[in-house]
Amino acid sequence: MKRIFTFLFVVLFSAGVLAQKNNSTAQRLAWFKNAKLGIFIHWGIYSVDGITASWPMKWKKMSWEDYMKQSTGFTAKNYHPDQWAQLFKEAGARYAVLTTKHHDGFALWPTRYSKLNCVDHSPAKRDLIGPYAEAMRKAGIKVGFYFSLLDWSNKDYHVDFPRPEKTLKKLYPQPAWEKHLNAHQRFLRFMFGQLSELSHRYHPDLFWFDGDWEHPAEWWQAQSLKDSLLTWDKKVVVNGRLRGYGDYQTPEQGIPTTPPKGPWEFCMTINDHWGYVPSDTNYKPAAQIIRTFVKIISEGGNLLLDVGPKPDGTIDSADVRILKTLGAWIRRNKEAVYGSTAGLPPGHFYGPTLLSKDKKTLYLALFGQPKDYIGLAGVRNKILNIRVLGTDKTLKWVRNGGAKWKNIPGLLRIEAPSSKDLDPYVTILAVDLEGPIDIYQ
Ligand code: GLC
Repeated sequence: MKRIFTFLFVVLFSAGVLAQKNNSTAQRLAWFKNAKLGIFIHWGIYSVDGITASWPMKWKKMSWEDYMKQSTGFTAKNYHPDQWAQLFKEAGARYAVLTTKHHDGFALWPTRYSKLNCVDHSPAKRDLIGPYAEAMRKAGIKVGFYFSLLDWSNKDYHVDFPRPEKTLKKLYPQPAWEKHLNAHQRFLRFMFGQLSELSHRYHPDLFWFDGDWEHPAEWWQAQSLKDSLLTWDKKVVVNGRLRGYGDYQTPEQGIPTTPPKGPWEFCMTINDHWGYVPSDTNYKPAAQIIRTFVKIISEGGNLLLDVGPKPDGTIDSADVRILKTLGAWIRRNKEAVYGSTAGLPPGHFYGPTLLSKDKKTLYLALFGQPKDYIGLAGVRNKILNIRVLGTDKTLKWVRNGGAKWKNIPGLLRIEAPSSKDLDPYVTILAVDLEGPIDIYQ
């Protein structure tokens, strides 16, 4: 009997703990799930030569020394994070994620753990993270920090390209008491130290890790890292690149053809690089970016769209143009963007769909100019109204076929909007339903 009680107690207790944990994860992620659009910012010394961020060292295309010489041109002299915030707001973004430190190890804040930072090692000579966090917060934009777990300049982090070990020793000073630690232990102390600094000094809403692929979870002490982050700030959200200990998934560059399970975010560059590379003019057209955005949010994800500021802190006009065009589209269609959830499963409509929170409005996205009529299958509800977002034009519809006695709905044939009611990029039709959506499959 006693055993049964103990067993029941353990089961109920663990269920309670789990429920609490799940509940708080959902609470932490509440803002993230409604955010829809974030702006990714890859800003670092790689913008000076306008090259790929960090990787040229790893690919042995550039020596560590030549790569680091770029820091002498990193001025930040026109860096006005308030202007960034205004631009991101105009783009319709609800969060931003800035590279506090990329794989190259160069930190954008005056970290006491290394001299390889913008205050000690560049003409910028000031903290760039604090003003960013403050400006975003003032504009109502959630503050995200990208942080590369791996650090290709840290003397205690093993790499397979040559580095000037003496210089590194000076750049990454080691307290005397650390002598008894091995390189791995020293690196972990360094990594936890930098993250603790970022968390305690700036209180970000989101940590966006990268570079976890170089080691397994135990090596990074991923579990303990996640626990520490939550101890330092119980509200913080953590992306998925933490060897399974993150809160959401982050596919990049290739649009997932089937959406990931659970919360997720898709990150994408505007041209082919994350940072500022002026020789790369392969910009995605606004149409592609807007369609991608619609597809991602129709499957319950967020889009994290990347910009690469110049060494002086200004954002290139090509990026600005794209952000403004996307923002203008979002403003025309905001009813379907914010507060909506993923739409219908495949088979009902040829294109992305979204649903309002109360499930009483279904949004249909048209990527092209519809011919004859727009078909919508398997919706049982009575239709109250069909509107074109942006112009408020109402459209006619007829229901055709179906089998009433079996509650099988007929096909809705919706009148195709005339070209003057079509959006230049993606047209959204709002289908107002009597009651929450009821589908037949
Ligand atoms: C990859 C790249 C890195 C980039 C990141 C953005 O991990 O290695 O350079 O910052 O993607 O998601």
